[in-house]
Amino acid sequence: MKGIVLAGGRATRLGPASRATSKQLMHVYDKPLIYYPISTLIHARVSEILIISSPDQIGAFQSLLGTGEEWGCSFEYAVQTEPRGLADAFVVGADFIGDDDVALILGDNVFYGGGLGEQLQRYTDPEGAVVFGLWVPDPERYGVLEFAEDGTTVAAVHEKPADPPSSFMVPGLYFYDNSVVEVAREIEPSARGEIEITDVNNVYLRRGTLEVSKLPFATDWFDVGTFDALLDAQTWVAGQQRRKGLLIGSPEAAAHREGYIDDEQLHALAVAAAHGGDLTKSGYAESLLRILEFEGTH
Ligand code: DAU
Repeated sequence: MKGIVLAGGRATRLGPASRATSKQLMHVYDKPLIYYPISTLIHARVSEILIISSPDQIGAFQSLLGTGEEWGCSFEYAVQTEPRGLADAFVVGADFIGDDDVALILGDNVFYGGGLGEQLQRYTDPEGAVVFGLWVPDPERYGVLEFAEDGTTVAAVHEKPADPPSSFMVPGLYFYDNSVVEVAREIEPSARGEIEITDVNNVYLRRGTLEVSKLPFATDWFDVGTFDALLDAQTWVAGQQRRKGLLIGSPEAAAHREGYIDDEQLHALAVAAAHGGDLTKSGYAESLLRILEFEGTH
């Protein structure tokens, strides 16, 4: 299975901070926002990844992330000329996807939960589509699940409904079989002028091949689209990392945990994270080294 990180868009809600840079390059505590969705894909054991961004920002992502080789991954890049909607990821990424299945993760979605990686690894060979349901207090801001009378069968998915039929939203991580490319090409723009991922999911639902998996209530999830959401995510990551001495959303840590890189490679990446200089000057580099200290190997 291949993976796509969609990291374009105009981020108008973050203006003027987003005027000269991309939202997904802004930092959430000690690492760029895009590290978080990339590490989620690595935990799902998806390592061939396409990063899609806008024409003016794609070069910055290439400078930051390179080929992916040092994380045991392979990264490619593609430009989305206009933010036409989330389903456009499969049109822009059609050549990259080829004959494979594909996972899509939004570049501003942060996921964290015990056992999440193992849960995701179950869906990397989907028969149709797999999406997730997560309880939130403000479902009207997202794609929302409508359940049939039995309370478990999904009857429809609604994009930002004024009157949400449930409190379960669909977060920005989706697994599809190869037919998603054709499905996306057929989607008509919505009232807000975008080709909606929710419409893609409803096509699979009508075919009877949409699997909906509820995420555990304890899953932490952030859609980092506003200043307050950015601050919330920053505060949460800082608190978790300081208390537990671990790294959240680190591709290096994820690659080490999933066996893509060994101890020596992780050590070299910590040095690189400090720009080859004094390791103690970068808190991120220190945190990477701490992974090895825990194991007593360095
Ligand atoms: O965060 C989960 C939600 O994401 C889902 O529940 C909704 O169903 C889904 O439509 C989406 O809603 P948003 O309104 O949050 O999507 P937004 O327009 O903010 O785009 C999400 C990210 O994708 C954002 O980082 C920008 C990027 N993007 C967006 C569009 C429309 C692109 O790179 N290209 C695009 O064409």
